[in-house]
Amino acid sequence: MQVRKAVIPAAGMGTRFLPATKSMPKEMLPIVDKPVLQFVLEEAAESGIEDVLIVTGRGKQAIENHFDYNPDLEYFLRNSGKAELAERVRDIGETVRIHYIRQKEQLGLGDAIRLARQHVGQEPFAVLLGDTIIDPPPGQKPGLRQLLDLFEQIRASIVAVHRVPREWVARYGIVEGDPDPFDPNLLRLRRLVEKPSPPEAPSDLAIAGRYVFTPEIFDALDCTPRGVGGEIQLTDAMNQLAVDEPVFALAWQARRFDIGNRLEYAKCFVEFALRRSDTGPELRAHIARLLAGGPEPLL
Ligand code: UTP
Repeated sequence: MQVRKAVIPAAGMGTRFLPATKSMPKEMLPIVDKPVLQFVLEEAAESGIEDVLIVTGRGKQAIENHFDYNPDLEYFLRNSGKAELAERVRDIGETVRIHYIRQKEQLGLGDAIRLARQHVGQEPFAVLLGDTIIDPPPGQKPGLRQLLDLFEQIRASIVAVHRVPREWVARYGIVEGDPDPFDPNLLRLRRLVEKPSPPEAPSDLAIAGRYVFTPEIFDALDCTPRGVGGEIQLTDAMNQLAVDEPVFALAWQARRFDIGNRLEYAKCFVEFALRRSDTGPELRAHIARLLAGGPEPLL
């Protein structure tokens, strides 16, 4: 069976990004002119997903508005001779069917996924964190597509992982597993350790914000008590799932930007702006001048 549905949790409080996130969802922070969540949705669509459930919450209306039509804006743009921009604004989110569900209390990522049970039903499904941009190298498939290709062969839950420097392991969920004898990039998961200290970390492989699950994850979530911070942790449920059935980790070909982290947001913004032809050349020159400590021309 093909994976058709995806869940995008986007209901978190974004406390690491206050005060910006007091009235604005962190998933709507722009990378130059495109919100993070639009990158995530495009990755899902380019990976073949047809149906997306976005988990939102209080103060997240900007998300629904962004993927809705805005006739006043389109009318204004057309009348100002910007028909092409009007089309672009209208087409946002047209590539997949989008549904929404609200998480009333921010009880953690596991709780957010649990809310998708009825919508997903008895099918395998993907999860894409709404605050995470995956950046594959040129010529590589979109991040989620890499996981789905593997899922179609092995038919088991898979989590994407990437290597991180040892001193960073305390920021992530870290994987302990047995390498596959035929594929050095694949591990059979034994357990996930949430934010271990470097000496305690079983590896340097960190979970990357993209998953494919069999529907059995919902039973595992139902048995998961509240853990760290009173939240239902997805990693706890995945540890249970790994006891019940095989779960794999794929060390994939892609970089991950965790936008909830201010430094990673800044890096992502600068990198993406440098790649664009409209902003790249002048920004590169500007950064070079800044780094050289030269005098700044007055604007
Ligand atoms: P994070 O743990 O990074 O988000 O969750 P957070 O809780 O908003 O972050 P801080 O620590 O307060 O800054 C990863 C993804 O899961 C969603 C978030 O919106 C984010 O996209 N999430 C998290 C939920 O949907 N519900 C939750 O209860 C928690």
